[in-house]
Formats: sequence, C-alpha cells, structure tokens
Amino acid sequence: MRDEAVTFLSRSPGQTFRLGEMLGRSAGAGDFLALTGELGGGKTLFTQGLALGLGVPEEEYVTSPTFTILNIHRGRVTLYHYDLFRISGPGETVELGLEEQLFGDGVTVVEWAERLGSDMTGERLEINFEFAGERERTITMRGLGKSGLRLLAEAKDIIGGFRGDT
Ligand SMILES: Nc1ncnc2c1ncn2[C@@H]1O[C@H](COP(=O)(O)OP(=O)(O)OP(=O)(O)O)[C@@H](O)[C@H]1O
Ligand SMILES: [Mg+2]
Repeated sequence: MRDEAVTFLSRSPGQTFRLGEMLGRSAGAGDFLALTGELGGGKTLFTQGLALGLGVPEEEYVTSPTFTILNIHRGRVTLYHYDLFRISGPGETVELGLEEQLFGDGVTVVEWAERLGSDMTGERLEINFEFAGERERTITMRGLGKSGLRLLAEAKDIIGGFRGDT
C-alpha cells in the first residue's frame, strides 16, 4: 500500500483541536484514523475537534471514552470513537468487531491504536502524538492507501495555514 508522511509541531492545544476540526469537515464514511502516542499527547483533544468538524452536536462532545472502549456519535457522518487503553492487546479487537467498522458507514477513530498490533490493516491515517514541551506536541501523520493519502493531503493544507498562528 502506498504511504507518505508529514511531521508538524503543534504549538498549542487549540492548534491540535483545530487540526481535528478541519480534518473532520472533510472526512467521510470509511475513513479510519489510528491515533498513537503517550498519555496526554492530545489524542482525545484531537478527536473532540474532529467530532465538531463532523457535525456532532455540542452536547454530545466526545469525553474520554477510556472506561467504555467505544462511543458512537451521530453527526453529518457517524463517528466511532474507540479507546483501547484498557485492552490487553491484539486479538481482543476481534471481539470488539473493530474490523467490520473500518470500511463501514462512518468515520472510525482509535485511541491507543498501537494495541491493534498487526490487526491494524487497510487504508488509514496514522497520527502519533509526542511531547515536545508543556504546550507543544510533535504530531507525525502517515497516510496509507487512497483514503489515508487523501486525509494526509488535507492535513498538509491545514497545517500550512497554521504558519505563524497559535
Ligand atoms: N499542543 C498541544 N496539543 C494537544 N494537547 C495539548 C497541547 N499542549 C498542551 N496540551 C494538553 O495536553 C492534554 C492532552 O490531553 P488528551 O486527553 O487529549 O490526551 P490523550 O492523548 O487523549 O491522553 P490519554 O492517553 O490519556 O487518552 C490536554 O490537557 C491539553 O490541554
Ligand atoms: Mg485520550
């Protein structure tokens, strides 16, 4: 599968949120976003922005689903928000029916996607969050396949517009 990557330094929580929001505006059914990286990296904040961009009603805003594994939000497109922090590893994801979701009717976001191991297949945008300071995060995005590369191209346009802005 063809892939391509870009790295971006987010200078504030607001930038990470806006990256999610703007990607959400252009995301469509079948898109899959795999979020990785350390605790407090910004995965949930990014997903909250994405939900807004997908037209999820404000009162439904994505809270951290850490205790529920899956939250479903109805927006312009349905958002399937997984948080795999509590699963022990690949294998358990089969029980979750995650694979059926990936090319389904909505946009799927997975926090702690590293837990999927080699179960992670198919077209996707991988987003890794790393601390680069108290308010800075290094965000590395890798697009795989047609849907992933389209999302990556959108992301490049979005971060290009951030220059000089916090
Ligand atoms: N540039 C930044 N981008 C994203 N978050 C930032 C940034 N700077 C500071 N933060 C703060 O980092 C925290 C990110 O929390 P968030 O819950 O989104 O992380 P997470 O990756 O989902 O963590 P967990 O692994 O616990 O689910 C927030 O408190 C946010 O305000
Ligand atoms: Mg989180």
